[in-house]
Amino acid sequence: MFAIRQASMADLPGIYGIFRDAVRSPDAIWIDDPGTPEDRCAWLLLKEAQGFPVFVAVEGGEVLAYAALGEPCFRDANCALAEASLCVAPHARRRGIGRALLATLEEAAGAIGRDSLIASVDAMNRGSIALHRRCGFRQTRRMPGVGRKFGRARDLVLLRKEL
Ligand SMILES: CC(C)(COP(=O)(O)OP(=O)(O)OC[C@H]1O[C@@H](n2cnc3c(N)ncnc32)[C@H](O)[C@@H]1OP(=O)(O)O)[C@@H](O)C(=O)NCCC(=O)NCCS
Repeated sequence: MFAIRQASMADLPGIYGIFRDAVRSPDAIWIDDPGTPEDRCAWLLLKEAQGFPVFVAVEGGEVLAYAALGEPCFRDANCALAEASLCVAPHARRRGIGRALLATLEEAAGAIGRDSLIASVDAMNRGSIALHRRCGFRQTRRMPGVGRKFGRARDLVLLRKEL
């Protein structure tokens, strides 16, 4: 059975491997190049500096998934939003890890005074949209052609959950 805990520097190789695999997918994470393990290290340090938690799901010493809160690219009037992001290793999917990580992020968002979560998802990422809906997120916007991945325009779906 997997366990969820705060991420540490020792988890970086696992986090980087999962991130790199997800970047290869056409419908997750709108960057074309995963960068280096050092870039992920900088990301983890930035989250720490900003006061946003990062979690990992682990089993038998293996990192199976990671999840983080972040500042959305826009602010609502009360600055009460946080953005949720998560990634599960392909071999660990459909075991309830995504659901457990989203529940952890919701609790963590409350602890830092945020009362609403948003998720920005590629409109073709049916798994992620289904997961967020299953966890009580509701679609608030669909924005055609606002993203680009591997040279192709992508649609964005914004989902929101009030906590
Ligand atoms: C999307 C993702 C996070 C889901 O994680 P997961 O651990 O497989 O999700 P869970 O096992 O907790 O699934 C919970 C529920 O979500 C829904 N769901 C999850 N993945 C699904 C899929 N591929 N197709 C349809 N429904 C899905 C189901 O209702 C599922 O419940 P069920 O298994 O009892 O039917 C995972 O597929 C992933 O990391 N994908 C690549 C990266 C990514 O897209 N990240 C999100 C970017 S916004």
